[in-house]
Parts: sequence; structure tokens; C-alpha cells
Amino acid sequence: GTITQWELVDVQGVPLPSSTADHWDQIWGFQARPDDVLICTYPKAGTTWIQEILDMIQQDRDTQKCSRAPIYQRIPFLELCRPPLYTYCFKEAEAMSSPRILKIHLPIQLVPPSFWEQDCKVIYVARNPKDTAVSYYYFQQMNHGLPDPGNWDQYLETFLAGKVPWGSWFDHVRAWWDARDKHRILYLFYEDIKKDPRGEIRKMGQFLGRELPESVLEEIVQHTSFENMRENPMANYSTVPSFIMDQAVSPFMRKGMVGDWTTHFTVAQSERFDDEWTRRLEGSNLHFRTRL
Ligand code: PPS
Repeated sequence: GTITQWELVDVQGVPLPSSTADHWDQIWGFQARPDDVLICTYPKAGTTWIQEILDMIQQDRDTQKCSRAPIYQRIPFLELCRPPLYTYCFKEAEAMSSPRILKIHLPIQLVPPSFWEQDCKVIYVARNPKDTAVSYYYFQQMNHGLPDPGNWDQYLETFLAGKVPWGSWFDHVRAWWDARDKHRILYLFYEDIKKDPRGEIRKMGQFLGRELPESVLEEIVQHTSFENMRENPMANYSTVPSFIMDQAVSPFMRKGMVGDWTTHFTVAQSERFDDEWTRRLEGSNLHFRTRL
């Protein structure tokens, strides 16, 4: 098989894959249910990690149940429309029984309004932009549905300009941050979860109304470690055909660390990036760790 590389299409100022833009009216009209839980991230922030953690919490840490299907079927990616592999995710989500966990990468202004009308719980995860950019660079190389990133120097400019799928990282993390007290949003950081997975998973459990005993927390931490998820065919996207995601180009579970950016950025690139970062998040108290 082969797939067409989607071009990016402007949806209310945000570049989205054409496959998503083509079905925008249906996505925007998606009907949420009050007990839906939404995982929202800018791409490459650790979405899959949170998906596996939340499924483990919901399935009462039953690893057999968490192996019932690949992660992208257990927790559909709402705005992804790619027949025949995933059909239309919003249709798969409609057919799911409650309670549902759903994934989106949408900036906050593009979240289907029924999620707010139903007052759904949202877990947002942000990752420092330097590691995000490096991860996205490799992902755009291995995922043949997304635009080719060009070389690293070119990609960095594209990323800073927000001309990548789902748009500007800065706008995304900032607008979600500013809204965190207006809705039921738990705003988490990839770096914190790396540093203290047990504590952050406990927080997720509490947010979902579950006190997780230490032994349960420990099982979830183990099951969702980078090393275990990398080997888990139901979590590592190895079930996706290589003409769509070519893991020989770069594995989906690539490094899973904080600070890999230091092996990619030159000093000049890092300074240029920091300037832009300061400018774009000025006046915000949103801070990221770039090393552990
Ligand atoms: S996607 O395509 O947007 O859903 O990708 P996403 O899952 O958000 O991001 C993939 C990056 O997250 C890393 N990852 C993990 N890190 C630590 N622990 C665990 N368990 C884990 N699972 C996935 C994955 O390796 C990607 O980051 P990089 O830096 O490329 O390794």
C-alpha cells in the first residue's frame, strides 16, 4: 500500500492535515458525553504515555485488558480521518460505549464545543519545546502522512513559525494554560512525569476520582515505563503498516528522555530559540524544564 501525504490546510488560522480539514464540520459537531475524559496535547508531548496510563487506571491495572487493541483504537484520536486504517476516528468514538477516553491535538479554540457544554474532564500535557521540536522532526520523517520536514536547520524555522501540523507550539501551550481554571483541566508536564511518575500518576487518578494504592501505582509506573512501552506492540505503533509509519526511519518510541535537544541544537540555534520562546510566552507564568 501507499498513502498520500496530506498537505496542511488552514482551519481558522491553524494548519491541519487536509484529511482533518476535509471533515471539519463533523469534528466540530462531535457530541461529547459528560463522563468523557479528553487527553489533549500538542503533538509529541507524551500523548501515548498518558493514553496508556489512563487506560491502566480505567481498566483497574488489568494489563490483559490493556492489550485488547492497539492504543490508537483503545483511545481514538478524534480529529484523525484516515481510511481505511482508522476509518474516521470521530465515528469510532461515536460507536464506543462509556466511559470513553479520547485523544485530541487541537488548540483550545478548536475543541468541539460540546466538550465544554458537558463539562468534561481534560488532561492536558505539555513538553518543553526544544525536545518537542526534535521529536516532531523525527516523527515527520517516519510518518508518511505528514509533510517531509526537510533538514534540521530548515525544520527549526518551520517549527518556530508554527507552520507544522496543528500549528504553533507557543500558541497551543499558552492558550490551554490560560484556560486551565475556566474548565476542568489538569495541566501536566512531561518533565514532571519523567521525574516523578508515581506522584504524577497519583494526581491523574485523583483528578479522575480514584485514590490509587501504592501497589497499584507501582504496577502502572512499571507497565508504562518507556522501556516497557517500547516493547509493547499494543503501545508502540508497530501494528501500523510501515508504508504509513516507517519505524526503520525512526521508531515511534524513539528516546523518551528530557534533554535530547542538546544533541541537535547548535549554541546559536538554542539562543535563537530562547529569544523566540521568551518573546512568545512573555507575560505568562508558564515555565518548562529542559533538563532533569
Ligand atoms: S503523538 O504522535 O503526538 O501522539 O506522539 P506522543 O505520544 O505525544 O509523543 C511521542 C514522544 O513521547 C515519548 N514517549 C515516552 N516518553 C517517556 N515514557 C514513555 N512511556 C513514553 N512513551 C512515549 C516518545 O518516545 C516520543 O518522544 P521522543 O523524544 O521522540 O522519544
